[in-house]
Amino acid sequence: MTKPLLIGNWKMNGNLQLNQELLSRLIPKLQQLQKHIDIAVCPPTPYLFQVCDALACTGLMLGAQTVSEYASGAHTGEVSASMLSEFKCRYVLVGHSERRLKYRESSAAVAAKFEAVQSAAMTPVLCVGETLEERAAGETRLIIEQQLQAIIDQVGLAGFEEAIVAYEPVWAIGTGEVAQASQIESVHQSIRAFLSSNAPSKNEDPSQQLPIVYGGSVKSSNAAEIFNLTGVDGGLIGGASLQAGEFIHISESLAETAGSLVSE
Ligand code: PGA
Repeated sequence: MTKPLLIGNWKMNGNLQLNQELLSRLIPKLQQLQKHIDIAVCPPTPYLFQVCDALACTGLMLGAQTVSEYASGAHTGEVSASMLSEFKCRYVLVGHSERRLKYRESSAAVAAKFEAVQSAAMTPVLCVGETLEERAAGETRLIIEQQLQAIIDQVGLAGFEEAIVAYEPVWAIGTGEVAQASQIESVHQSIRAFLSSNAPSKNEDPSQQLPIVYGGSVKSSNAAEIFNLTGVDGGLIGGASLQAGEFIHISESLAETAGSLVSE
């Protein structure tokens, strides 16, 4: 069983000085938790070099927030997977709802990015989730299955053998509103069930090994409850990952959950 995973998504925040201050508070504390959990941060692209440098030899990992689906060429403003891998990125977020909704990334484009990340020997973190309207219309499962199906169409079910899925209800991102325990457990369970139903045999079923993390207004006050839910293998943290004290508390909650699982 792999360790639970915590990813901080800094989004478009920070600057050289703030990043330095944040990292210098985070690194010594987070390093102590690595026995139980894996931790990564995803800074904005221009700061990859700075953060890569700061994390060197710490065991803490680097991630990127997005990637081009193309390998190279005339794609002004884009960054390729091989470029991210030169900065020792281990993870790349693909299909974050802010990319899907604000930048109109289709599920097909997200799937092409997923493949590009794996081709560069990094791990895609596929973000899936429904909007409030979709949930109200009873379409949560359908929407998430469509988002997963696009990946299967692109790389096959085996693509989920080296991937992370992040369930992030769009209505819970940056809103302070957290999905209820039963909603989180049921979606995580339905993601595994859908992948499993696509597997031709038990040996080819990636669903039980696949880490599924939750994201959407996770903070120190609710982290322990969320991380203790069945089928939740960690968290993708936005706003709270920019505050050292909050991110450390959230990491400690996950490490405690993991520690109690280990000692059971
Ligand atoms: P939030 O963002 O924690 O600020 O809700 C989560 C995310 O967008 O990944």
